[in-house]
Amino acid sequence: MPLTPPIPILIVDDEADLRNLLVEALTDEGYAAAGAENGARALDLVHQKHFPVIFTDLNMPGGLSGLELLRAIHDEDPRTLGILMTGYATTEAAIQALKRGAYDFIQKPFKLVEIQASLERALEHYRLLRENEEYQQNLECMVEARTEEILGLKNDIERLFEGFVNASVTAIEARDPSTSGHSSRVAELTVGLAEAVNRTPNGPYGALTFTPTQIREIRYASLLHDFGKVGVREQVLVKAKKLQGERLESIYQRLHQRTLETMRDRMLEAWSQGQPFDRDHVGNLLRRQEEETRHIMDLVRRSNEPTVLPQEVARELDTLEDLTYQHWSGDPRILFEPSDLDLLRIPKGSLSAEEREEIESHVTHTYRFLTQIPWTTELAGVPDIAYAHHERLNGRGYPRRLKEPDIPIQSRLMAVTDVYDALTAADRPYKAAVSVERSLEILDQEARVNLLDKEALRIFIDARIYELTLGRGITPVP
Ligand SMILES: [Fe+2]
Ligand SMILES: [Fe+2]
Repeated sequence: MPLTPPIPILIVDDEADLRNLLVEALTDEGYAAAGAENGARALDLVHQKHFPVIFTDLNMPGGLSGLELLRAIHDEDPRTLGILMTGYATTEAAIQALKRGAYDFIQKPFKLVEIQASLERALEHYRLLRENEEYQQNLECMVEARTEEILGLKNDIERLFEGFVNASVTAIEARDPSTSGHSSRVAELTVGLAEAVNRTPNGPYGALTFTPTQIREIRYASLLHDFGKVGVREQVLVKAKKLQGERLESIYQRLHQRTLETMRDRMLEAWSQGQPFDRDHVGNLLRRQEEETRHIMDLVRRSNEPTVLPQEVARELDTLEDLTYQHWSGDPRILFEPSDLDLLRIPKGSLSAEEREEIESHVTHTYRFLTQIPWTTELAGVPDIAYAHHERLNGRGYPRRLKEPDIPIQSRLMAVTDVYDALTAADRPYKAAVSVERSLEILDQEARVNLLDKEALRIFIDARIYELTLGRGITPVP
């Protein structure tokens, strides 16, 4: 509050002459001076208006002493500065007065100039205090405004990042629509599992608590764990059968060509030997050829499935190695390329060793991608958590074949939810959806052979975390 003249000054003294003299002198100086004959009257006036400076006598008979008055005024209005006046001054009394909060001390009898000098000092001090207060208030407002600005900026950055993560998830799922929703479901399940770990009071993870920031870290790592799939060729990513598309089609074409050519050769041979056209003989010949072709095609079809290849089927595939057909150029050619047969001989699944390696490389791609992001210190663990989502406790995982102690707990939780979602997800091209019950059994078998973390799985099942995503892209409870 700035000081604007006339500045109110209060004089408290039981000696009327002195009081009036001072009131008059200060009024002449341009102040709004008022007088009070005792403490009670002074307090009355202070209730009515603010006095930046009060002069008070130290000893006033009956009622409050000067010091008591100053203390009472201070309680009422701490901005007021009090100046004590007394005729019985001792150094001790002066020190006491100043100690108890008086701004200054004047000894009676005094000259008017002493009062003026003390008053000017007090008003200057008062001004400085107010300026300081104002500065403080401005500073607080500025800090508040800046804090709000920074918080707004932080929210913007978080929203921006959230948008970027969602866009990345959309990109992964666009590459492989059959895994649509996988990343979000794994994030929801892993966060749910981590929160369940927090609620677990005993067992190996009894003492483990994930902070809200660590939970966010787990969420981002889960959402982006498969991002590296964008670096895997699409035909490998969505490969349902061992041989597909053009390669399979050309085998069928060659088989048909071979039938036709055999028929033509036989007929030409018969005619060149002067044999007459024998409808039954030709019919039988064609049937035998077609039967053989059907048999081979059936063998290819059976071998082409991504299920476990029975040994007798594998042996039968060996018989296809030497089959030939006549190429349009006139040269004999083999019917099955060795690389086609190698694919058909894949004992389990639809991927060759190289293709499997390519799929597995998604983890390394994910890690490379995530380490490009300048994570904040609190989210710095995201790349490592995602990097270990295919590692297994017994060292049989990939890509680094880490062993139990080197696999982050967060990744072990994610391994459970990732396998669960992969099993229950409906309609992947290379496998049918597995029921929830059967999936939990498979997870249990994997935990028993130390692939998955037993305690993580126990909590996943006991806390029924798997129910979080039921009905969303997965099979219903059997
Ligand atoms: Fe993965
Ligand atoms: Fe995954």
